[in-house]
Amino acid sequence: MTKPIDTAGSEPASTRESPWSPESWRSRIAAHQVRYHDPKEVEAAFTRLKSFPPLVTSWEIERLREQLAQAERGERFVLQGGDCAERVDDCNPRTITSRLKVLLQMSLVLVHGSKRPVVRIGRFAGQYAKPRSSPTETRTIAGKTVTLESYFGDLVNRDEFTPQARRPDPSRMVAGYQHAAMTLNFVRALVEGGFADLHHPEYWDLTWFDKVGVSSELRTEYERMTANLADGLKFMEALGERAVDELTRVEFFTSHEGLNLLYESAQTRTVPRRAGHYDLTAHMPWIGNRTRDLDGAHVEFFRGIRNPVGIKLGPACGGDELAALLGRLNPADEPGKIVLITRLGAGAVKARLGELVRAVGERHVLWVCDPMHGNTVTTASGIKTRAFDVIRDELESTFDEHERLGSRLGGMHIELTGEDVTECIGGGSGVTEESLSTHYASPCDPRLNYQQGLELAFLMARRLGRQANGPKR
Ligand code: PEP
Ligand code: CO
Repeated sequence: MTKPIDTAGSEPASTRESPWSPESWRSRIAAHQVRYHDPKEVEAAFTRLKSFPPLVTSWEIERLREQLAQAERGERFVLQGGDCAERVDDCNPRTITSRLKVLLQMSLVLVHGSKRPVVRIGRFAGQYAKPRSSPTETRTIAGKTVTLESYFGDLVNRDEFTPQARRPDPSRMVAGYQHAAMTLNFVRALVEGGFADLHHPEYWDLTWFDKVGVSSELRTEYERMTANLADGLKFMEALGERAVDELTRVEFFTSHEGLNLLYESAQTRTVPRRAGHYDLTAHMPWIGNRTRDLDGAHVEFFRGIRNPVGIKLGPACGGDELAALLGRLNPADEPGKIVLITRLGAGAVKARLGELVRAVGERHVLWVCDPMHGNTVTTASGIKTRAFDVIRDELESTFDEHERLGSRLGGMHIELTGEDVTECIGGGSGVTEESLSTHYASPCDPRLNYQQGLELAFLMARRLGRQANGPKR
């Protein structure tokens, strides 16, 4: 076996204003960068990726930026959601359709509650790369201790616990890109085709309310909202086939964590008649909580692209750090450019959000809450899970705190699936700690299932409906 090489290089940042290029990140330290074994294989994959047509266009990216600028002003609400770790095997019609269905239904519920258009951003068509807390994983197999490289997502290796599967394979970047392209092609076709079954109220499968113990007050409210929605959809349907699409503006944008900078930079280029470089693997790539080091490779890469950029902010992020990141990533303070995705943990919102909001001051940002990643727990039997009530609690307290601080929560970022999985505990779906193993399919973090996703959307729609109107930043 050849000695692993670190594609990220090891030189720390020396000068601030050094010239940017799609590959200038290579001279910076990259946290969580993959250690591939064969540089020739890496270059071959990189060259191939560079030659492919883009997955998204600069027009779409600019449109998303406009919509995010509107969301900053409170004119739209953002729903970002999908898998924690998307698999290439998820590139099949059933999974794509059910994921799209839950996101669409949640967005319509949110449109109804917030009386505002919703920007739908999927965590799909490229959410294949994962940061891991340890580069290796150790298991005991047949009495022997075996240590292998961790599973870094389908873009890098496979999660089967064998040396072959865990070997980082650069050709998986090419395969990942091709699967992202097929996924996006089907999403575009479904959206273009109108996703017609959404027009029919019977499609709103809410029979599960009958089976579970939600309070009568909540249930009545759900029923009223569903009836209103059904009426609204019928009315729009009566106006003509295309009306629903036009009025609800069914449009999907894609996003993923821009973790593997080889994958991102191979598809970063200039386009005719526009200034600047675009990362054309997704509309909105984001910087993960573990890779937002100011002088690191990820911030270096992201500072040069025109796309809107998400930044995940955990409880350890300080106000000065955030202000420095904004200065580096959006020096001209352009609206629609920066999406701050807080994932503080339900218990830390009150203590931590204020410092972040104050650090932003009058700058343009869109605040989004990820109530998932600060609330992951491991059960006594070693299963990773999250509790529905705690997820809801982080969202509610983030709404409260923004209201108190004079800022505005403009969106939510959720790990979910359209499938009937048992990965998160609670909500009306009644998943308990004991039933977690019934259908636990995520190779990474636990996701809300279909019912839990929809229930959360109803709860947030109710909250948005009550949200004070009026100009806020
Ligand atoms: C994720 O979104 O799956 C993730 C790893 O999040 P974070 O960077 O916030 O920990
Ligand atoms: Co995750």
